[in-house]
Amino acid sequence: MTTPTTIDRPQAAFPYDDVLATVQQVGKHFMPADLLDHLATVRAQLYLDAEPDPVLGRWLDCLLDKYDHRYDYRSYLALPMLPLPRAGGDPGRRRDELLLWLLTDLIQFELDTAAGQDTVLPGRRPSAALADKRIRLARRALAGPARRVLNVADTDDLGAGPDVATAAASWFTEEQLRGLRLSMLPVATVHDEWMFIRVLQSYETVFTDLALSLRTAIGHLDALAGDLAAGQLHAAADTLDEAAPLFSLLATMQPESFHEFRTYTTGASAIQSDAAKAVESLCATPSAQRLNSPAYQSVPTIRGLVLAGQRTVNLALTEALAAGLPAVTAAAVRRGMDAFSASLTRWRATHYKLAKRMLGEQRTGTGYTEGVPYLDRMRREPVFGPQAARPEPDDELTWSGESH
Ligand code: HEM
Repeated sequence: MTTPTTIDRPQAAFPYDDVLATVQQVGKHFMPADLLDHLATVRAQLYLDAEPDPVLGRWLDCLLDKYDHRYDYRSYLALPMLPLPRAGGDPGRRRDELLLWLLTDLIQFELDTAAGQDTVLPGRRPSAALADKRIRLARRALAGPARRVLNVADTDDLGAGPDVATAAASWFTEEQLRGLRLSMLPVATVHDEWMFIRVLQSYETVFTDLALSLRTAIGHLDALAGDLAAGQLHAAADTLDEAAPLFSLLATMQPESFHEFRTYTTGASAIQSDAAKAVESLCATPSAQRLNSPAYQSVPTIRGLVLAGQRTVNLALTEALAAGLPAVTAAAVRRGMDAFSASLTRWRATHYKLAKRMLGEQRTGTGYTEGVPYLDRMRREPVFGPQAARPEPDDELTWSGESH
């Protein structure tokens, strides 16, 4: 293991590759204490630099989360390192580009391991059949982005060659690409954690884009452009449905692998995902009870927005109707809401089934809820509030990764 020795001008010569290799070789939870002390010193000196490295401080914050005792979902997934979709520009295109990068990185990792290359995370490597299945499902998950961005109809070879890597050089800045490469910070050395992290990062990408779509829909309703709002809601439903193969992909995780690295992820739960709670709270204002529960206490930024009176699709439609939106257009908006509601309810049902399969019925989550029973209750909540209650979610919903 190499300990960096460049404290004087850390930004100019910081040995990113060496430090990243160390994290991936031993796991973030097991980093040597002297290296962590050293990195903390490097971080403390960053403010002295005249031209601070825009990536290093962010990365060291992710890397030193356990050292700082502020480890959470955001730092576990290194979310500050991802060029997530943003308002302005083309969030849908950015979502696709990022999904392509994340999932082809996963495919490459599986291919390299299967080819016997000296990859990191040696624990509990999957059988050849399971690795094949995982690669197939990852390619299925990126079929939509590949079609739209690369004009590729057949994803069979994606991830095996330089295609996405070459194209990505024109999608992302050099700094963003560096951030992406640095965004894999597993806590342990179990092979499947690579996939777990890339799938969660992919869903964060999708939910960030969905939140932007819902905000745009609210803007259209405020402008009494109901047809555009309906279009946004249908597009959001399609985006979430298209991401469903990510769950099939995650279902190839070996439960014993999950339990092994999960020992070291306590404190990081997707209950802390701002993007997922943004989506929920932009549909309808959460009840006071939910707002004061761990569900929203885990996302203080989103909770603050709700308390400050964040507008919702529900409210915007009511106000648009009062302002003269024609009933026929409102009906089109409601159909868009129905489509999104059905899609999110399907997502919740699949999430519940996957969690149950990985954890069993009674095991608690890492986010201070009672775990699986909590998810079972939440999946029955109407997406757009009680007045827009939907039928019971489909208990028989399956995903294709049922067996391995
Ligand atoms: C092995 C797979 C997974 C398991 C076992 C699992 C388990 C759980 C559990 C037990 C909770 C309840 C909160 C807690 O106490 O931690 C939860 C919440 C949550 N999970 Fe997962 N999860 C998995 C995968 C995913 C994936 C892929 C996503 C995609 C983003 C996700 C998103 C969420 C979200 C947004 C919540 C918060 C729900 C709420 O507060 O209503 N989970 N998960």
